[in-house]
Amino acid sequence: MTKETKRLLRVLNGESVWPPPVWLMRQAGRFLPEFRALREKADFLTRCMTPDIATEITLQPIRRFGMDGAILFSDILVLPWAMGQSLEFIEGRGPVLGPIRSAADLARLDPARIPERTAPVLETLGRLRAQLDGPDAIGVAAPGSVTQIGFAGSPFTVSCYMVEGHGSREFASVRRMSYEEPALYDRLIALLTETTTEFLSAQIKAGAEAVMLFDSWAGLLPPSEFRRHVIAPTRQITKELKNRHPDIRVIGFPRLAGVMAPEYARETGVDVMALDTGADFAKIAAEVPNDLVLQGNLDPLAVLAGGDAMRREVLAIREAGRGRPHVFNLGHGVLPETPPEHVGDLIRTLRETGL
Ligand code: CP3
Repeated sequence: MTKETKRLLRVLNGESVWPPPVWLMRQAGRFLPEFRALREKADFLTRCMTPDIATEITLQPIRRFGMDGAILFSDILVLPWAMGQSLEFIEGRGPVLGPIRSAADLARLDPARIPERTAPVLETLGRLRAQLDGPDAIGVAAPGSVTQIGFAGSPFTVSCYMVEGHGSREFASVRRMSYEEPALYDRLIALLTETTTEFLSAQIKAGAEAVMLFDSWAGLLPPSEFRRHVIAPTRQITKELKNRHPDIRVIGFPRLAGVMAPEYARETGVDVMALDTGADFAKIAAEVPNDLVLQGNLDPLAVLAGGDAMRREVLAIREAGRGRPHVFNLGHGVLPETPPEHVGDLIRTLRETGL
């Protein structure tokens, strides 16, 4: 018997728990009316940087649905913003940053500013942990039952937005920079590897019990580039975090990695691999070590659609994870148009073991 009482942490530690614990990527977000109400009050970055608001938004989905994990309300682009890169979230367009295209642009970034500018994020984590584990958790969930998850973007995915300056389907300017100006691009990846390690380490000290590295655009890279810009930095971050915090659990999400997923699982040292929507859960489970925790991977569109189709998929994925450590999640974030009742139904279905 383990003395760990948090179901999600037990699975992150390698135990198989039935039914599997659950949380959803982008659970703290736009699909909830109570989130949209707060949105009127402050812009996105202000919401991330105001502990009262960020704490509340993080807890909203837990209160409503009782997920096993609480993911911090923040964004992967907070890190470049904290180094001084300009950042705005524009309605209907997404993030817009002053792009990094030259050595001079890179030299203007100032990592020394990160601790001060991210202090509110750390404060939020501390408050969340106190609320989730203290007697005040009443009304949220049973005290001490919800795992606090911190996160950052992976160096490659964050570099995509930093160099391109906005979202894109291809991020061609970033991939060209890696071929045309390898020394410059390597410096950017090195800077991000270092600052991401420090930021995640600070999140762990502040109260995060597990951390996730979002590599949403990993699948754009051919194998040679994937090894250099995805596997190597992830390995370095994971190794250093584990040196400093031996018990920390690291979740990696190499979205669209496809055939590279098993190599990512073997080579990076992450404890958990999050599978994207297109990944064949059962097939990957057969290819990776039995003690690798898998997370995922319900199609966000199935949740949007709801009903029998969603319930069938929930049960199929639950079944595919039977007997191994599995954290139920989506294959990408909850879509903003998702009816909240569908999320409720998802969680009830998952926890219904009489079926
Ligand atoms: O609930 C949670 O998962 C916690 C918070 C969280 C957000 N972004 C909040 C957010 C997390 C973990 C992220 C990660 C993130 N941010 C990723 C990786 C995961 C993924 O979805 O692939 C990426 C690529 C970003 C960058 C980003 N932030 C984009 C492209 C956008 C605009 C498009 C969009 O999805 O809205 C954002 C804005 C953003 N991040 C919002 C939220 C709730 C919407 C802001 C608003 O309109 O209020």
